[in-house]
Amino acid sequence: MNPPGTQADFAALAAPLRKLVEAELRRLIRLPQEPDARGWFCPRRLQQAMVYSLLAGGKRLRPLVVLFAAQGCGGSAEEALPAACAVEMIHTYSLIHDDLPAMDDDDLRRGRATLHRAFDEATAILAGDALLTLAFEVLTTTVRPAPVAAQCAAVLARAAGACGMVGGQADDLAAEGQQGTLEQLQAIHRRKTAALFSASAQLGALCAGASPEQTKLLARYGQCLGLAFQIRDDLLDRHGQEAQLGKRVGKDDRRGKLTYPALLGKEASWEKAKHWADQALEALARSGAEHPGLVALARFVLERNQ
Ligand code: IPE
Ligand code: IPE
Ligand code: MG
Ligand code: MG
Ligand code: MG
Repeated sequence: MNPPGTQADFAALAAPLRKLVEAELRRLIRLPQEPDARGWFCPRRLQQAMVYSLLAGGKRLRPLVVLFAAQGCGGSAEEALPAACAVEMIHTYSLIHDDLPAMDDDDLRRGRATLHRAFDEATAILAGDALLTLAFEVLTTTVRPAPVAAQCAAVLARAAGACGMVGGQADDLAAEGQQGTLEQLQAIHRRKTAALFSASAQLGALCAGASPEQTKLLARYGQCLGLAFQIRDDLLDRHGQEAQLGKRVGKDDRRGKLTYPALLGKEASWEKAKHWADQALEALARSGAEHPGLVALARFVLERNQ
């Protein structure tokens, strides 16, 4: 028997939900290739590009947060599934754009050529745009009841937008080659990565009809989890293995990125990550939605090598 919260626990809890998410993403991404009554349809190449990135086998951590949170609040994974898929679409779009030459200029993602390398830059930009838009179509047309769909859309839009993920990405680029501070770095991580984890936990709670108090505590869990996750991501860029990560390593230092290991070194970065994982667990305990998957995830983000 493994003690609670091991990687084996996480894998076992995640497997059935990942299967649900994969199947639903595969269904949702199939867009009309023939003109409808208005003459509207998705070009074949654009469709292929969206599928190439969305179904490339990411870890699906954000959808898992949505689904575990929904279950933790007494709801079902099925009712939260559209929200889980919407979050993954936003995340995948953010990776496609993050890899573009104008941003991090990467050539490997999810173990395969980045989208702009496999297709072309314009297609990568447009596939990202299309995934972002599709996320909101899915949320607003399938989450029920309609007021919950509207709440989910507002939460996700704020987290992914200019004051959240997009703003964090802008500041991440602006900080390249600069002498940044820990406060600046934390403000970047809070928005570029943690905002989407926080929204994921909130969406799960909203789909399950959780109280505002429980939703707020789960939002805090997601925020802290995301901070720990991004510190580990920074550490893995320095110390991880390309084959396990499915993306290049050593790029942050070469680009002069402001990262935790660059600023604090390996040990202090790990301590910070541990601090945020503990904070996540504390908020989770207070929320009363202590799903074992959410507990295991706090440990997984600290220890992961992929
Ligand atoms: C990578 O996220 C981008 C960051 C926010 C660091 P993940 O490590 O969750 O990427 P996938 O979805 O598994 O490919
Ligand atoms: C990416 O951060 C954050 C978003 C995509 C919003 P990174 O640039 O560190 O992610 P990787 O290392 O390329 O996956
Ligand atoms: Mg980046
Ligand atoms: Mg990057
Ligand atoms: Mg990184």
